[in-house]
Amino acid sequence: MRNYSLQTTADGSMTLSRDDKQQTYHSRFGAVTESNEVFLRNSNVQQRLELQLPTSVLEIGFGTGLNFLLTARCARNNNCPLTYFGCEILLPPVEIMQQLLAHNTQQCEMEIDRLVTAVTAPESENPTLINDKTTLQLLVGDALKIPLPEAAFHSIYLDAFSQSEDPYFWQPPFLKKLNQALVCDGTLATYSVNRQFRNALEEAGFSWKKLPGPAGKREVIVATRH
Ligand SMILES: C[S@@+](CC[C@H](N)C(=O)[O-])C[C@H]1O[C@@H](n2cnc3c(N)ncnc32)[C@H](O)[C@@H]1O
Repeated sequence: MRNYSLQTTADGSMTLSRDDKQQTYHSRFGAVTESNEVFLRNSNVQQRLELQLPTSVLEIGFGTGLNFLLTARCARNNNCPLTYFGCEILLPPVEIMQQLLAHNTQQCEMEIDRLVTAVTAPESENPTLINDKTTLQLLVGDALKIPLPEAAFHSIYLDAFSQSEDPYFWQPPFLKKLNQALVCDGTLATYSVNRQFRNALEEAGFSWKKLPGPAGKREVIVATRH
């Protein structure tokens, strides 16, 4: 049994920490800011949803569901279909997820309730309808072992713990698997930017560019399958 604690970040939103990890689930400089900028915006998912292009997203490291919930809200607000696959090896306790998500979002009560249903029956083969536009399929297990469909996702949010904590997510074999799961020109958004990771992306078949980071991080990366 692991111990979790909620922490307030610099933009007033909450993140989570786990006693066996040296890092929080989101940036201490702003959890919601990081989710919105590094994942939703940099991946182009926000733009696709605003253009009402049906969109399929895979998240590696579903965690508290914050990246997911903000993406689902964007799909609802833009009346655009979203198919979301969240891969997670160890879901946090559901009461903690609820508390964090209720604090970090407004007018998402229905989505939070439905997410709780999905999280309490995570082995279900069927996707959960989170709002009129969004389905969520939770893939509970080790992302390194779960088979992924080919050319299935417009974007991947790579939100694993960092290289120092969980190095295998940032190395070519796993990145190749992610590359193949993306459609051509699909994007991989993440918060990491170091040279070793950039080299690994190239080896896995991605091109990449640096984008300005949110507070506390000068630059982040978005990579594209070519
Ligand atoms: C930085 S946190 C993710 C934060 C999350 N995206 C959110 O919005 O709350 C990293 C997550 O990766 C998960 N994780 C670690 N190893 C994993 C593995 N082998 N397969 C799938 N998920 C893993 C952790 O349990 C943790 O929830």
